[in-house]
Amino acid sequence: MFKFAPYSFKSIPFDVPSQSVQSFSLEPSLFEHDRYQVYEDQFEQVSESINLAKNETLNLSIIGLGYVGAVSCACFTSLGHTVIGVDQDISKVNAIRAGKSPIVEKDLGLLLSKAHQLQQLDATNDINEAIMSSDVTLISVGTPSNKDGSCNLDFLKSATQQMAAALSQKNQYHLFVFRSTVPPTTTKDIMIPILESYSNKKCGIDFGVCFNPEFLRESTAVDDFYHPPKTVIGAIDKKSAELAAKLYNNVEGDVIHTSLEAAEFVKYIDNTWHALKVSFGNEVGRICKAMAVDSHEVMNIFLQDHKLNISPNYLKPGFAFGGSCLPKDTRSIVYMAEQLNVALPIIGKINKSNQCHITHTVEMINQLAVSKVGIVGITFKSETDDLRESPSIELLKRLLKQGYQVQFYDPYIQEGQCLDVDDDINRKLLKAKCNSIDELVDNNHALVITHKEEYTKNLVKETLANKHIIDVVHLSENESRSEYYHGLCW
Ligand SMILES: NC(=O)c1ccc[n+]([C@@H]2O[C@H](COP(=O)([O-])OP(=O)(O)OC[C@H]3O[C@@H](n4cnc5c(N)ncnc54)[C@H](O)[C@@H]3O)[C@@H](O)[C@H]2O)c1
Repeated sequence: MFKFAPYSFKSIPFDVPSQSVQSFSLEPSLFEHDRYQVYEDQFEQVSESINLAKNETLNLSIIGLGYVGAVSCACFTSLGHTVIGVDQDISKVNAIRAGKSPIVEKDLGLLLSKAHQLQQLDATNDINEAIMSSDVTLISVGTPSNKDGSCNLDFLKSATQQMAAALSQKNQYHLFVFRSTVPPTTTKDIMIPILESYSNKKCGIDFGVCFNPEFLRESTAVDDFYHPPKTVIGAIDKKSAELAAKLYNNVEGDVIHTSLEAAEFVKYIDNTWHALKVSFGNEVGRICKAMAVDSHEVMNIFLQDHKLNISPNYLKPGFAFGGSCLPKDTRSIVYMAEQLNVALPIIGKINKSNQCHITHTVEMINQLAVSKVGIVGITFKSETDDLRESPSIELLKRLLKQGYQVQFYDPYIQEGQCLDVDDDINRKLLKAKCNSIDELVDNNHALVITHKEEYTKNLVKETLANKHIIDVVHLSENESRSEYYHGLCW
């Protein structure tokens, strides 16, 4: 379905005063100018669908008028919704009531003053008043760090108690959309119980709950609202999900519907990834400079690779890496940095992290209380006979060391192939080799599957009696969830 992009002169659904237009369009770059032109054309094409969508406007309350809440007030009113903002900080309430921005943020003042002019936006410090005069509440109070790094939920719990007290006096259905960043399960295990116990009402019947993470970046928050990287809605039920999705009817991109927990956690994963990207880029910069290589030249080339570098490849949870290049070359760059006295704490820990993953696999096998383990696939990945630095060999050696009887089967190993440069280890490995998958299955209590192949997928489907399956490669989205199936980290 087409979604129009409201961040253009024509698509902001009210008349912008001429003075404001100037400040709004201050020296637009060529790119921005082109973009406005495109949106204006699109606007003409879809005015009908906009009108349809406009009929679905909602009465919203927004609790917490900080960076997220203030931008939400401005942007949701620009989409036609009516908003009442709530904050315990009276200066923020007064600013919003006067149609002024409580924070420094490009274009926010313009949108707030228009919303004020159109009487679409009000503010209060009384949560009760806000809940009673709205159908949907977005919660964006702060969730700062505690000293130990944990997420402080005090503001959120307190606001949720007040919302629930107000809900107890309401007869209509109400939707609560949590937007503050919180650890997974917070909404289901803490906020819903608070809502139910303080209101004496039932989630799923009297009220609905969603978690809808916010992805705006300060300084480009208004533009990010209309053009988000994604819109994610985790919901307790279908009714909540469908109502929350209406908030984004006129925002670019489709809504990704998911569980409450996935919606909560993706925000942490996103931010951790962004922090990792910044720090990785900086580590690359430090080692490049020390080696007299132009770091921007290197990264500009790196970024042009959308097949392996900037792509989903290598990013999904699975088994440890191995092979002839990744371990060797990360070791080598760490050596170069040490020689030059350049600190690379992230890059320097990559091989250690990889070893931790093998340790995790061993610990999982230890939990099964079995003595005979079969490894399905011993080369470092499917469809190669290369055994160099194979994590499966490392796993096999560690299991042998712990006293397990270990065998393996691998169709890619050739007759007479040397399995390890160390003669003693080579002999042990050759002794562990099975000539067929059936032999491996018959002889062992647990099977570790390290290759994603048709025959390995079938092993899981066949649900072999009393055979534990340890899947380290995420064989399929719909793998059997029998008590004998163990996903490595899923
Ligand atoms: N700032 C960002 O760029 C950003 C982006 C995405 C997500 N987030 C997340 O969104 C949440 C809000 O972030 P922020 O930067 O807007 O925070 P903020 O500190 O700027 O604003 C939070 C507001 O909530 C108000 N508040 C606290 N308790 C209240 C209560 N009981 N009733 C009414 N108001 C109350 C505070 O007075 C404050 O104005 C956080 O969880 C944050 O991690 C922030």
